[in-house]
Amino acid sequence: MKAAEGPRDLAYRGPMRIVVLVSGTGSNLQAVIDAVTHGELDVEIAAVGADREGTYGVERSEDAGLETFVVNFNSFPTRAEWDAALTERVASYAPDVVVSSGFMRIVSADFIERFGGRYLNTHPALLPAFPGAHGVRDALAYGVKVTGCTVHWADAGVDTGPIIAQEAVVVEADDTEESLHERIKVAERKLLIDVLRRLAVGEIAAPSSDGGMRTSAF
Ligand code: GRF
Repeated sequence: MKAAEGPRDLAYRGPMRIVVLVSGTGSNLQAVIDAVTHGELDVEIAAVGADREGTYGVERSEDAGLETFVVNFNSFPTRAEWDAALTERVASYAPDVVVSSGFMRIVSADFIERFGGRYLNTHPALLPAFPGAHGVRDALAYGVKVTGCTVHWADAGVDTGPIIAQEAVVVEADDTEESLHERIKVAERKLLIDVLRRLAVGEIAAPSSDGGMRTSAF
């Protein structure tokens, strides 16, 4: 394990290191693991972290033999203390990019700053429409005919921050929240992997620690 040091020197050339944060079933995480395993994505998954015990996402990570940790939200008296503990734990893996992949907690501005603004989030709707924990349900309830998924640089708001990529998904007349979410997740996995691949080779600009954006590969 590397020492805690935050984003690495830009002169470093090696696979982009990511820490993936999950709360649920971790199907997006699994897609990333598979892409790395099959040599389709040249990134290093330094660790997978969760905010709760016993989720399928954690199991998937352990099954893949990845470094896995839980910073349990409910074990801390305040959100600030949980956030600080999460920040330190994630920082200990010195990630280039932190990926919120179905991570159902808002992190602080301090967390995001610690990782140079390189906090990637995936959301199952076409932001800025339908942010929040029920993006699929809300889109369906509104009656939109097209929704989709978004990968973006997250700030400390709820599903806000610069959009990197989006993919549209048509809503079918007989869709339920579950059926629609499943189709969105198919698009979401591809989008996330594509964004990570493009980031890793410098095709997409990443926030840099001086507050700007840079396009060099990791
Ligand atoms: C994804 O659709 C994500 O965007 C949303 O929750 C879902 C997580 O799915 N926030 P999984 O845990 O990757 O299966």
